[in-house]
Formats: sequence, C-alpha cells, structure tokens
Amino acid sequence: MGVMTDAHFTVLGIETSCDETAAAIVRLSADGVDVLGETVRSQIEDHAPYGGVVPEIAARAHADVADRVVDAAMRETGLSYDQLDAVAATTGPGLIGGVLVGAMTGKAIAMASLRPFIPINHLEGHALSPRLTEACPFPYLLLLVSGGHCQFIAVRGLGDYVRLGSTIDDAAGEAFDKTAKLLNLGFPGGPAVERAAKQGDPNAIALPRPLLNRPGLDLSFAGLKTAVARAAEDAALTDARTADLCASFQRAVADVLGEKTRRALEQFDPGPDGTRRLVVAGGVAANEELRRTLETVAEAAKAEFIAPPLRYCTDNAAMIALAAAERLRAGLVHDDGLTAKARPRWPLDEASAASDPAYGGGKRGAKA
Ligand code: KG4
Ligand code: ZN
Repeated sequence: MGVMTDAHFTVLGIETSCDETAAAIVRLSADGVDVLGETVRSQIEDHAPYGGVVPEIAARAHADVADRVVDAAMRETGLSYDQLDAVAATTGPGLIGGVLVGAMTGKAIAMASLRPFIPINHLEGHALSPRLTEACPFPYLLLLVSGGHCQFIAVRGLGDYVRLGSTIDDAAGEAFDKTAKLLNLGFPGGPAVERAAKQGDPNAIALPRPLLNRPGLDLSFAGLKTAVARAAEDAALTDARTADLCASFQRAVADVLGEKTRRALEQFDPGPDGTRRLVVAGGVAANEELRRTLETVAEAAKAEFIAPPLRYCTDNAAMIALAAAERLRAGLVHDDGLTAKARPRWPLDEASAASDPAYGGGKRGAKA
C-alpha cells in the first residue's frame, strides 16, 4: 500500500487553442480529482464585432494575458511552481497563433521551474473532461459537439481513442454561429439561437436532416445552414419568422445528433461492469433541446448519461491539466516534451484519420 495510495500528481494546465485563455491546477490522487485553482479569460467581446473568432486577434489577446492568467490561477492554490509535478499545455489542434502562445508559456514555466513539460491534445482534454467531476470509468462513448469539433469518439482507455464518426463539413456549433449571423442574432450564436427558438415552432419550416439516411456515424451541417439561409430569404424576417427558423434549425440538429447517437450506442460495447455510458461535451452541450434529446436516447438504450458541468464542457484548462496528470500517473510521460511542436491539426485517433480523413478544412481549425 503506502506509496501508491499516497501518490498524487499536481499539474498546471494551459489552454489557448481557441478564444479562451485558461489556466488551471489539478491534483489527481487516489481520492479523486481536485481543481486547486483556475482562471479563464474569455475573448468573446474581442470577436463579437466580427461575428466569429478572428485568429490574429485571438493570438494577440492570448499573448497579452497568458502570464497573468497563469499567475492568477497559481495564486489561488497557494502553491509555488516547484510544488508542481509538471506543466502542461494544449499543443494542438487549434488556431496556431494561440496554440503557440500556450505552448511557449508552458515550456518557459517548465524550464524555469525544472519540471517536465507535457504536450496535450486538446481533444484528449475534452475526451477526459467528464472525469474531472465523476468517476466515469472507461470505456464510454463521447459525443463532442463544439464550435470547432463535432465527432463521436469511443474512449476505451487513457490514450486509446477511436473516432467512430465525424462531421464532413461544419461543426454543429459553427452551424449555430452561422445561423445566428445570417439571422442577425449576434455572436456567439448558440445561446442566441436557443433563446429565439423558445418563442418559435420547431415544425414551422421543413429543413433537411443531412446524412440521416446514410449508414455510418458521419455528420454534416453545411447543407442545413444553407437551407436556413434560403428559408430566410423566402419571407420577411419578422421576429416570429426568426423564432420559427431558430426552433426548426435547432430541432433538425437535435434530431440528427440524437439519431446518430442512438446508432453509435447500439454498436458500442458496454464496459466490464455491463454499463454503457454516453458523455456529451463541447459548448453545444449547453443546448437544452439537445440535452433532452440525448437523455431520451440514452434512456432507451439503458445507457448512463453524463454531461459535465458547463464550465468543463466548454474549453477549459482543467481538462488539459487532468489529461497530463493521468498521463503522468500512467507512466506515459517522456522527457522530450520540450521539443513538442504546436500543431494546427492533430487528430486524436491518428489511425482512422489517416485511412478516412472525414474533414477537409475550416476557419476554426481541425475538427477531425
Ligand atoms: O466548446 P466551445 O466553448 O468552444 C469550441 O468551439 O471549442 O464551444 C463554443 C460553441 C459555439 O459555436 C457556440 O455557439 C456553441 O458552442 N454553443 C451553443 C450553446 N452555447 C454555446 N450551441 C447551441 N446552444 C447553446 N446553448
Ligand atoms: Zn474545444
């Protein structure tokens, strides 16, 4: 006993791959996970005038505040840097300017405090995020739905991820953002569309369910956005019409994600305890209609439904620190972290990405 049960891993994590500058200190021990300190600085206001994330603005904003954000999170813990076991940062995938800032900041702190630097894949952070607040044993099915990513991942174990399906064009959150933009609802679009949808009729406007009749777990949202654009031109955009469009769009997204999730659960082997688990993560997981739909799907499949608290669904640094702490505990950390490169694209599951590159390109970075 002794040594193993007392072992704990305290890691500073840094996340700068999109539009949040975030730092968190996580301690992983036999008792579970403690988030000892965390700071997030959102750039939403910097990007709002442009209706989307502008990479150059993001990079500069990260560079301006990264040091202060890390410092604030560390101060919350009362720890000094030499009490850390490691320093981690997202080194991809994401907007390269921001990723570079986070990686450089993390490496500099690691070198100065003589700690190992652990490069973390942003998608692995999302994949492990439910374990910040729940036991959530492997394996589980993850639906990752955000502004940058939209995919099904079988999380079979630490470092063992299989992509089961992914969007072939836009991410779901991107579709919400574009829909909001063309209906003049502002940025970020998801919450605005959800708010407007509350006053609308989800059956008012017939919209497509892309790829629903196709086998497999790939998704597509670009056509849906185009259909909304066309429907928006068909009649005057009154408040009532806008609400109907939002409600119909939201229902179409929930329908597609719900049905594909149902199929994914069907083909997903339960764990050794006989339990199927469905985890939803990413900013779009905030959407109440989507949550309700997924809850119903999970219930029908007798699967446990796990949605991390919202602050861990969206981009955050605690998930990056946790991924690094879990890697440290599992002995998966090598001392060459300082040479790790920032990667705009970095599929979580390199094997299926190479044989089946589901995703082409996009403004907000790699989705596959
Ligand atoms: O995970 P996230 O914070 O950042 C990344 O994209 O990685 O996700 C942000 C996305 C945006 O596209 C935003 O419009 C969407 O999540 N979102 C929502 C809602 N809240 C945020 N989409 C639908 N309904 C919401 N309530
Ligand atoms: Zn993300």
